[in-house]
Amino acid sequence: MARYEIYGGTPLRGEVTISGAKNAAVAILPATLLVNGKCRIENVPDISDVRILLSILEEMGADVQHGEAGVVEIDCSNVTCTCPDPELVKKMRASYYLMGALLSRFGRGKVALPGGCNFASRPIDQHIKGFLALGADVDETDEYVELVPGPNGLRGNRVSLDVVSVGATVNIMIAATLLPGTTVIENAAKEPHIVDLANYLNTMGANISGAGTDTIKIRGVQSLQGGTYAIIPDQIEAGTYLAAVAATGGNVLVKNVIPKHMDCITSKLMEMGAQIINYDDSIRIRSEGRLRHTTVKTRPYPGFPTDMQAQICVCMTLASGVSRLTESVYETRFFGYCSELESMGADIQINGKTAIVTGSDQLYGATVCARDLRAGAALVIAGLAAEGITFVKNSHFVERGYEHLIEKLTALGANIRRIED
Ligand code: UD1
Repeated sequence: MARYEIYGGTPLRGEVTISGAKNAAVAILPATLLVNGKCRIENVPDISDVRILLSILEEMGADVQHGEAGVVEIDCSNVTCTCPDPELVKKMRASYYLMGALLSRFGRGKVALPGGCNFASRPIDQHIKGFLALGADVDETDEYVELVPGPNGLRGNRVSLDVVSVGATVNIMIAATLLPGTTVIENAAKEPHIVDLANYLNTMGANISGAGTDTIKIRGVQSLQGGTYAIIPDQIEAGTYLAAVAATGGNVLVKNVIPKHMDCITSKLMEMGAQIINYDDSIRIRSEGRLRHTTVKTRPYPGFPTDMQAQICVCMTLASGVSRLTESVYETRFFGYCSELESMGADIQINGKTAIVTGSDQLYGATVCARDLRAGAALVIAGLAAEGITFVKNSHFVERGYEHLIEKLTALGANIRRIED
């Protein structure tokens, strides 16, 4: 176990380079199982979720080689295992993408139920609905999901999702890639990492169109070949640094971003008084004086991401006036961090799906506990902005998704260190 020790109150200044997108990486890495030959994946973030996935693939028989920083070469040609190590699978959420990958490549698989951040109940009924539509027989227990071909075999089909689900869209897209026939996913999620996964699969020889819209068409192909692909920059990591600068004040150039992906976040920060300048692949943020209150409702992309809820909440606790923050994807997410922020002096009233945040001009250092990845990131921001010393316990949650967090923040002038307990 480790914790962060943060001496707050220093405005952030300088430049930070954003890493490859966690949620794209954790979809693309399992999808390398579909490929015959070597995939060179660039811009892979060095975070614990990625390390776990690479161990799972290696354990299954993949050849995994680490190249220069951010480069991983993976060859799954010799994999025959259809039952990945349950202990590793349970350590993270996105290991559920192994279900789609095994179904696509081998027509079968037995995968333990995933673990990961438990900020809400996270059902996978829409993933299962997709696998059933593709012709699989599904045996789901409290421990695992087992997929085998159904009596009529596996085949592309139309799948209309009942809720817009990133995970189900990704899993069905991967599963359908090597199946005969055409699959159409309706009411699909449109997150940037879904487009990235489709681009990766297409680079390796898949035939996927419509990713980024609510209808994705996957025409099954017989095989995928190796190739090179670079993962997009992480929208949420970039948003977290932008929120940190908004909260602490300062002036930072956030490099290696796709500004279009950031519009839903930067538009809110501008409403709150931060100055934002978009360049081709970077964003400058300046924040001076007190932020202003605002209203935010989380929604699937292109709406404001639920994965930025906690970080924008910290900005609201420091803004003038009363802000309203409504969660429409994962209702129970507030419970992961609001009480911790209150112990730092924040005034937050939770009323169902909405948090009413009355801003104050100061947060105060305290010992707080991260309960999930983004909640932990928000507590780090709060610690950076607060007067005094903050300890953020359970830093391993944050390390699931932020590459070189301490180094990047230190380079921006923050006083933060990691203490091993
Ligand atoms: C993904 C992201 C996570 C982000 C979330 C929402 C990854 C690895 N994780 O999680 O960081 O917070 O999207 O943007 O990319 N739902 C169902 N049945 C299902 C699946 C989902 O009812 O089978 C519901 C969920 O309870 C939730 C909503 O659909 O209310 C969206 O969930 P989903 O987009 O699937 O989230 P994840 O893929 O788990």
